[in-house]
Amino acid sequence: MILVTGATGNLGRATINALLNNGIKPQDISALVRDEAKGADFKLKGIQVKLGNYDDVESLKRAFQGVNKLLLVSSSSDIVHRYDQHKNVIDAATATGISHIVYTSFDMKDLRESTMAGDVQYHALTTDYLRQVAIPYTSMNNTLYADMVPMIGGKDILKNGISIPAGLGKVPFLPITEMAETLAIVLTTPGHTNKKYVIAAENAFSFAEIAEMMSEITGTRIPYNQIEVSSYVSQLVQQGVSEDDARYLARFAKAISIGEFETNKSDVKYLLGRNAISLKAFLEKLYIK
Ligand SMILES: NC(=O)c1ccc[n+]([C@@H]2O[C@H](COP(=O)([O-])OP(=O)(O)OC[C@H]3O[C@@H](n4cnc5c(N)ncnc54)[C@H](OP(=O)(O)O)[C@@H]3O)[C@@H](O)[C@H]2O)c1
Repeated sequence: MILVTGATGNLGRATINALLNNGIKPQDISALVRDEAKGADFKLKGIQVKLGNYDDVESLKRAFQGVNKLLLVSSSSDIVHRYDQHKNVIDAATATGISHIVYTSFDMKDLRESTMAGDVQYHALTTDYLRQVAIPYTSMNNTLYADMVPMIGGKDILKNGISIPAGLGKVPFLPITEMAETLAIVLTTPGHTNKKYVIAAENAFSFAEIAEMMSEITGTRIPYNQIEVSSYVSQLVQQGVSEDDARYLARFAKAISIGEFETNKSDVKYLLGRNAISLKAFLEKLYIK
């Protein structure tokens, strides 16, 4: 039995779809949800829905009964709580005898020394804890989602161009569905314990290059505007992002600008046995309906 946490979110849901597409039977998949109503569509597919909250270790122990592999999708709760929540999941997994935890970590040059270490070092602490409890684990170091480009690139890219203070730093953006496929492979094939994989595209692009790509895709000139951080924050707030989240995304832009996502490594082709979908193909599909 494979249990997927964060099942109601983008990555968890995509991973469940990838598992089903790979021929795993619905009855061999469990979806962890904290709100039963959100699990209704899983139930319709024959997937087992388990109730559990990262804040409540006893609920997790109940949910993990009969599970042997667990995908721990990193929490989306407030960052200050995430490490303790992940510890709860790992403690419950250890107590219930789970044989393998796959954890969605993050791919940056150095999570602890990052300019945004306060936002991302919980990933390093979580993998340290996995090693400490000595449970077989796999760390999936995900880069930034390609799906985030339209949102972080500014309000109405097609009309206003791309506006983000990210300099010429590059990111190997990868679509969520591709990340999910790598997760499904690691959850269903042998040989992945105590390994770290970089889940990123082979090629990284700057926003200047993405603007050129978008210009080619749309046949109109899409400029790249390297706006000030304060304008970027106001722009995101206008897009409906909260002030805190806008500042958080501005810290990402800064990290991009100083090359923190340029890790120049990818294990996607090795895991999938094919090239990942290119950023251009992904954006084409997104913008040219
Ligand atoms: N690499 C990237 O570019 C990137 C971008 C964004 C986020 N992330 C990280 O990757 C994770 C997965 O991304 P995503 O897009 O799938 O995020 P998402 O759509 O926000 O999904 C987060 C999932 O975590 C669940 N969750 C949150 N707090 C929980 C708790 N206390 N107990 C149990 N479940 C809880 C949510 O459940 P509910 O539906 O009940 O809220 C949801 O299913 C995020 O949580 C975040 O840590 C990475």
